[in-house]
Amino acid sequence: DKGTYPFYMLKEIDEQPNVMRQLASVYLAENGNPVIDPELLEAMQAADRIYIVGAGTSYHAGLVGARLLENLAHVPTEVHVSSEFAYENPILSDNPFFIFLSQSGETADSREVLVNVNNSGYPSLTITNVQNSTLSREATYTLLLHAGPEIAVASTKAYTAQIALEAILAKALGEVEGQIVAQNFDIRQQLGLVATGMQAIIDEKQELEKLSNDYLMDTARAFYIGRGIDYTVSLEAALKLKEISYVQAEGFASGELKHGTIALIEDGTPVIGIITQEKTAGLTRSNLVETKSRGAHIMTIVRQGLAQPDDTIVIPDVEELLTPLLSVVPAQLLAYYTSLNKGLDVDKPRNLAKSVTVE
Ligand code: M6R
Repeated sequence: DKGTYPFYMLKEIDEQPNVMRQLASVYLAENGNPVIDPELLEAMQAADRIYIVGAGTSYHAGLVGARLLENLAHVPTEVHVSSEFAYENPILSDNPFFIFLSQSGETADSREVLVNVNNSGYPSLTITNVQNSTLSREATYTLLLHAGPEIAVASTKAYTAQIALEAILAKALGEVEGQIVAQNFDIRQQLGLVATGMQAIIDEKQELEKLSNDYLMDTARAFYIGRGIDYTVSLEAALKLKEISYVQAEGFASGELKHGTIALIEDGTPVIGIITQEKTAGLTRSNLVETKSRGAHIMTIVRQGLAQPDDTIVIPDVEELLTPLLSVVPAQLLAYYTSLNKGLDVDKPRNLAKSVTVE
């Protein structure tokens, strides 16, 4: 039930702080330690490489998950789009472990990979929002997102729930492997900061509606740019804008712009920079200036600790590995308001279904 909300998408965006709290209460003990099936952790420990598989937004959540697993658990991790992976002949490591990310647990492209994985006898984990879904039944292990039903076609709370659960899993795996970074990663405190940070952004939604009017309502194309983990969020941010507001948006690695794509920048083209990582903040800022000098209408989404006076949207500070949980929220709201004020059906964009059960 939408309650007083005009569309499910806005309701689901608003639910994200509670989803973070819910995940902490399900998967963390009183003392903040992860509570994850020890057998699952053993199976992951036995792996020499982790393969994350997903489609659309779930693939984008996987891109963040790989960074979490590599940084906290030091296990090499690859991420693949399921529809591609299913028909390649990838050379796998000797002891692979597969993680399937799927909100619905029914995506046919991802299932095709899981069938192959099962035929080869490899262990797997499905992270899904739907208990007893196909992918959850057919994988060796399952973890539930506990995000509550996601009705809007555009995925929002499933993305942030997937990332938060990947962080808990990476912390748990890193701890059993004796990684100091994992031991020092205070996931409970961080998820608390994330929940209040999300709420602070959501409380500014009127500001985001104004920005959507200024930047996105009258444009045929737009760019999100960033580096590293910010680049992965720019892919998700662009997908949101494409699927519900029909703006041809592209997420781009900001350093790659000058290798060709900058030719598309004209007077007034919106370019939104995501800046949350200390190491690359200066570089992304200079890439933004390059687009500005070619006429781009630039906007920034910046983590507090890196903010400068003329930044557009400032998000609260959290651990750099968890910034996608916050930087994506303004992008979700920008897409929402652009779609809403164009008079489109936000929850049911044209040509799309919630769950894609054909290959
Ligand atoms: O249910 P799944 O997570 O497997 O779905 C994957 C994609 O179809 C899904 O994320 C899609 O990209 C969304 N519409 C994006 O908002």
